[in-house]
Amino acid sequence: MSEKVNFGSKIGLIAATVGSAVGLGNIWRFPAEAQANGGAAFLLVYIACVFLLGIPVMVSEFALGRGGRSDAVGVYRNLSPGRPWWLIGALAILASYCILCFYMVVAGWTLEYFLQSLSGALFSDGPDFRAKMVQCVQGTWNPLINTYLMILLNLVVLLAGVRKGIERLSNLLMPLLFVLLIIFIIAALSLPAASDGLRYFLYPDFSKVSPKVVIDALGQAFFSLSLGMGILVTYSSYYPASTRLTRTAVTVSLLDMLVAVMMGIIIFPAIMSFGLSDESLEGATLVFVTLPEVFNNMPAPQLWAILFFLLLMVAALTSTISIAEVTIAFLQDRCRMSRVKATLTALLPLFLFSTLCSLSLSPESSLTVAGASLFDTLDTVATNIFLPLGALGMCIYMGWGAPKGLLRDQITNDGTFRSWVIRPVGIIIRWVAPILIALILISQFVR
Ligand code: PHE
Repeated sequence: MSEKVNFGSKIGLIAATVGSAVGLGNIWRFPAEAQANGGAAFLLVYIACVFLLGIPVMVSEFALGRGGRSDAVGVYRNLSPGRPWWLIGALAILASYCILCFYMVVAGWTLEYFLQSLSGALFSDGPDFRAKMVQCVQGTWNPLINTYLMILLNLVVLLAGVRKGIERLSNLLMPLLFVLLIIFIIAALSLPAASDGLRYFLYPDFSKVSPKVVIDALGQAFFSLSLGMGILVTYSSYYPASTRLTRTAVTVSLLDMLVAVMMGIIIFPAIMSFGLSDESLEGATLVFVTLPEVFNNMPAPQLWAILFFLLLMVAALTSTISIAEVTIAFLQDRCRMSRVKATLTALLPLFLFSTLCSLSLSPESSLTVAGASLFDTLDTVATNIFLPLGALGMCIYMGWGAPKGLLRDQITNDGTFRSWVIRPVGIIIRWVAPILIALILISQFVR
């Protein structure tokens, strides 16, 4: 095994892990899901999912990563040599790479909007932001150039390595992200319809909570916490032996939830105050059409746009580097490549794959699979199928296949302290999580 690096500090490893978790899932998926599925009622279901399932699964991914001290495939090889468990890791790497291909394109859009806000071009063609989005997303050159710039930015950070690249960047960007969120919260709460917006977001409508909503909340929790893709396994293989895994999982999950709720508190007062319709809530439309409309109605629109798209870019960048690190760690540990070679081997093919994803969004494109664009197909297959499958496999391994005592030793740092969570986490990982994840998977096919 190659010499393993560690994160340099506790804050650094938390910043990096939170950086991976906080992404577009918190910013554009969570608020819309919450509002559509019963407001505060959804929030309660979501919190229950995170505590009941998200945190225990995260703890076991950490235990697997730090116990196996390798990449997503290597951990299984180290802990259970000669057995086929490593295939679960291979699936996780495949899932993460598929996600990387299209996530990089979306990251490119965030950069494009940031640059257009800086130059003022975002507001220069009048207030038709929908036409602008079509031009930005479905055009040929603009999205491509920005995707390439984003790949290069990832390359620079990742070439610098785990400590000097990922950790240093996260230490810088995570505090910035929270400062930006606080600025937006203050602005949103001082808008005229702030309390109507909060009521709209948080009004607990328990009649909307159905089994489907619970499954959606679970899926959202897995995506948002970056579970099941080898990301947390890879990052935790860089955790020092003294890191307390349960505490880290709770901190990361709470911060991730906090960002999601903060986004809701920002978005709904803004939308209410400017009387925009419900359909404006959906994913990309929300951030690229509705919010620019909101900013256009506020004093100093350009300033708000710059700050917001900076926030979005920060969230996207710290997520893409974590996804890419899964493949890089694999190439370094399994294929014995140097950091530089592994980074280039992982990222250079993206110039081709992300180009295909981006071009597939144009209405004339023939890059389709069963009628859906390549972009949407990768998104759906990776997020709805590979991701839960990877998580399911990981739980089955940690619950049933892993060497006895791995979870206990990792949770208690080799017995240096006691912990009451070993039993509940064990039960959840053996029984509850596999059953619920299997339900998520099955539900993808019966909808
Ligand atoms: N967790 C990130 C989010 O909430 C998304 C993500 C998905 C990050 C997959 C890494 C890998 O957006």
